[in-house]
Amino acid sequence: MKGLILSGGKGTRLYPLAYTRAKQLIPVANKPVLFRVIEAIRDANIDEIGIVIGDTGPEIREAVGDGAQFGVRITYIPQDAPLGLAHAVKTAHDFLGDERFVMFLGDNVLQGGISPLIADFAHHPEWNSQIVLTAVERPEQYGVAELNGDGRIKRLIEKPKAPPSNLALVGIYMFDHHIFEATDAIKPSFRGELEITDAIQWLIDNGFSVYPHVHTGWWIDTGRPGEMLTANSLVLDELTPTIQGTVDAHSEIDSRVTIEAGAEIVNSVVRGPAIIGRNTRIVNSYIGPFTSIYHDVVIENSEIERSIVLEHSSICHIPARIQDSLIGRHTDVTISALRPKAIKMHLGDHSHLELL
Ligand code: G1P
Repeated sequence: MKGLILSGGKGTRLYPLAYTRAKQLIPVANKPVLFRVIEAIRDANIDEIGIVIGDTGPEIREAVGDGAQFGVRITYIPQDAPLGLAHAVKTAHDFLGDERFVMFLGDNVLQGGISPLIADFAHHPEWNSQIVLTAVERPEQYGVAELNGDGRIKRLIEKPKAPPSNLALVGIYMFDHHIFEATDAIKPSFRGELEITDAIQWLIDNGFSVYPHVHTGWWIDTGRPGEMLTANSLVLDELTPTIQGTVDAHSEIDSRVTIEAGAEIVNSVVRGPAIIGRNTRIVNSYIGPFTSIYHDVVIENSEIERSIVLEHSSICHIPARIQDSLIGRHTDVTISALRPKAIKMHLGDHSHLELL
């Protein structure tokens, strides 16, 4: 089997962070979501992976390289324009050839990886496709499946106004080569895209077998700021903690805290689950649960929890606790005069914020 990762999207729902960085490279628990996707495919014993790239292609190529750092071989597949997931599959036809493959959206995080799914599909060579579904609260934002009484798929609809169920299509799909007949046959949808949902419906309508797998663990599509923070919390919760940096005698560190090499904790409290990145300094501060501080950050005389802070940023002398915040790269947050009681921010890369 081969792997196909779609990383072409612009990430408009994650602006301003995604203005200056491919959204798939924004880290969750200090590791880019795209790296987590590559590792999940590799852990399912697939070592040949194609990545469909768009405008942010150069940045993705630079971060991922030839795949050797993950123990896989990466082929880049440029897509001229973001014309839909089914269009991306068509674009990858030469790379995929006649092999069965798993397709994974590059900004999704799934609890437990995909090895069980891949094994299931591999054991059923007669299946043409398998799709992953999960129950969600707002099905109208996704592709939605309606199942028959026997558990097979009756119908799929993209972003339905009146969803027939709460089972959304998770961005993970398995196909054989018949999918190319489907992607050639379908027409663009209401949003002008060739929808993979319509292609799968075409398979069903034309007698091919499509089986569902209902995922019961968590799944996060990290397309929006709130979802990034949720994904960060869920992944941190499962991290095995390690301490490689230094913690002075005046600091208090929880058991579920990871401190990466070169990081320094001075006279501070860090409550887990949390991660402090390489060469980051935490001085006279409190880092609360569900917080990821990336590398080369300085936090001094401040309190922060349930947040993500990206590299080369600083947060100094903030009198109120920062929470539920996403802070981009090279961002400085410092104090001006008055004391706000709560601070909520979604700041882009290279921002500079002075609070009242
Ligand atoms: C896409 C798919 C949709 C699926 C979703 C999962 O939506 O079209 O069927 O449920 O990914 O993340 P999009 O993110 O393009 O709105």
